[in-house]
Amino acid sequence: MAKITYKDENGKVVEIPTDPDKSIHEMLEAASIDYPFSCLAGACSSCKIKIHRGKDKLELDKFGTPMIPVEDDEFLSCVCGITPEVLSDDSVVIELERSDDV
Ligand code: FES
Repeated sequence: MAKITYKDENGKVVEIPTDPDKSIHEMLEAASIDYPFSCLAGACSSCKIKIHRGKDKLELDKFGTPMIPVEDDEFLSCVCGITPEVLSDDSVVIELERSDDV
């Protein structure tokens, strides 16, 4: 199973549960992480998150269209998910961090 970690604003790193049916934002919620959001539809950028490793694994957004990064190392957590094929790969490691702008 793939491993996804999240580092909060205090530097605390936690592993979050993976779920191919959930967006990254929903996976953060499932881990009891209170991450900012507003529209939950990819329109407002309030949920953007940094990714340090594994960006190539987040290819599709929640609606099945190609993922468009907000910045080079940031994307919208409410519309991006991870495919079952990638989640079942033990070698996949994805490292997320709270964006400075949220
Ligand atoms: S909550 Fe608005 S873009 Fe994600």
